[in-house]
Amino acid sequence: MATQNGSLECLPKIKFTQLFIDGQFVDALSGKKFETIDPRNEEVIAEIAEGDKDDVDLAVKAARRAFDNGPWPRFPASERRRRMLKFADLINQNVEELAALEAQDAGKIYNLVKLAEIPSAAEKLRYYAGAADKIHGSTLKMSGQFHGYTLLEPVGVVGLIIPWNFPSHMFMMKAAPALAAGCTMVIKPAEQTPLSALFLAHLSKLAGIPDGVLNVVTGYGHSAGAAITSHMDVDKVSFTGSTEVGRLVMQAAATSNLKPVTLELGGKSPFIIFDDVDVDKVADISLSAILYNKGELCVAGSRVFVQEGIYDKFIATVLERLNSWVVGDPFDPNVRQGPQVNKKQYNRILSYIEIGKKEGATLLTGGKPLGNKGYYIEPTIFTDVTDEMTIAREEIFGPVMSIMKFKTVEEAIKRGNASQYGLAAGVMTNDLNIANTVSRSIRAGIVWINCYMVFNDDLPFGGFKMSGFGKDSGMECLHGFLQVKSIAMPIHNSPWL
Ligand code: NAI
Ligand code: MG
Repeated sequence: MATQNGSLECLPKIKFTQLFIDGQFVDALSGKKFETIDPRNEEVIAEIAEGDKDDVDLAVKAARRAFDNGPWPRFPASERRRRMLKFADLINQNVEELAALEAQDAGKIYNLVKLAEIPSAAEKLRYYAGAADKIHGSTLKMSGQFHGYTLLEPVGVVGLIIPWNFPSHMFMMKAAPALAAGCTMVIKPAEQTPLSALFLAHLSKLAGIPDGVLNVVTGYGHSAGAAITSHMDVDKVSFTGSTEVGRLVMQAAATSNLKPVTLELGGKSPFIIFDDVDVDKVADISLSAILYNKGELCVAGSRVFVQEGIYDKFIATVLERLNSWVVGDPFDPNVRQGPQVNKKQYNRILSYIEIGKKEGATLLTGGKPLGNKGYYIEPTIFTDVTDEMTIAREEIFGPVMSIMKFKTVEEAIKRGNASQYGLAAGVMTNDLNIANTVSRSIRAGIVWINCYMVFNDDLPFGGFKMSGFGKDSGMECLHGFLQVKSIAMPIHNSPWL
């Protein structure tokens, strides 16, 4: 483990700092601004327009006009597809600048964002562009002399509230299906990471997405975010973030216009390892499952259950692997783990580590901040963790792994399910029967067998229990931006019914 100070020679100049409403970059009506901070060095990167209720109102009005009277929902789907494909190409052409914005704003590993996350954001546009002209209802078998069919219509103006851990990726996970469906939208990026969303807004205009279809209002959750969720003219909200705010989103929807909501919330995912695995391979998967994106990962495999036969070997192997795990500047190609997103998250993680120690877990490695500036934390492993401990129950959202020992399949299932969350799970075994039993018994929205964090555009993603409801990705997500209209009319003299 070492801290290294590499950095990209010239970071791109920040070009977009204003709200994007009705196709124009504009200041907030109040004139207010907030600072976005570089978590590598705690310095201000840029001052960003701080949108609030009035700005959201303008953005919703623009989106409403674009929906009610604009061309986007009325285009042949093939035209929406064409422009979405152009948008995707523009993202690929600007991959370096987008990746640099993400690395600087969110502390994400530059090379990973450049090679994987930004290209995959572009792919989301292509996946849903391809679906845009394949949105069909059904012809129904009516019981009388009627012709019945369903139409899938866009839900209208949608509010998309995005977190800071995967800013571009989550932006497109929600915006791409909404665009394909023919919706118009107001997007609120997280206040910690506004830069890439504004750049994407600029690209959307170049791609020919008409004014008012895609609006971005930067600002805080309690003001701009809350204004979206309680707005009477927003038809649906898709939210990713904390469980606590998920509740507020639902409440605001209920007390305003009863808009449907999709919530992708926290997790405390079990990563279950059986005796029969190749420990070397599984140790690598388990470390990525908790350390990828410095643990700021809703699906983090944070509860690692290891069967007793390989327990000691597993621990020795993960410790050995950590010797070559480099924490440091995310622009340095050798670095695997950058700084936590902001001071609040950094303090929160460190306080969970203290709680873990106080409650009697054994701190096997890590547990301390690294360096004297920036929000770096050592990869941390606790053993002797019991299911009741706070670190085994609450989402930490940082590089903190809790290891627990188990004996039987039944015990692994029971303890794996002993969580209020149900976002994801991992099952590592070469025994097909165990893999089937466990994957079907775990109450989680996604279960990975002998792999982890495999995301795919066609693979629906979203939680059970308090991890939320509704899906991102896959055709399920597209359907979340559509509503079913049933049509019935008399039919006369049909040769059959
Ligand atoms: P958060 O839930 O406050 O932020 C997520 C988004 O919601 C941001 O865009 C924020 O501005 C917005 N928001 C906040 N309050 C709102 C409100 N009243 N109405 C509408 N929108 C609102 O999450 P925060 O405080 O940044 O992180 C706290 C914890 O949440 C993390 O430590 C982690 O455990 C969890 N989290 C989970 C994420 C996931 O991927 N499921 C992503 C981010 C955070
Ligand atoms: Mg930032």
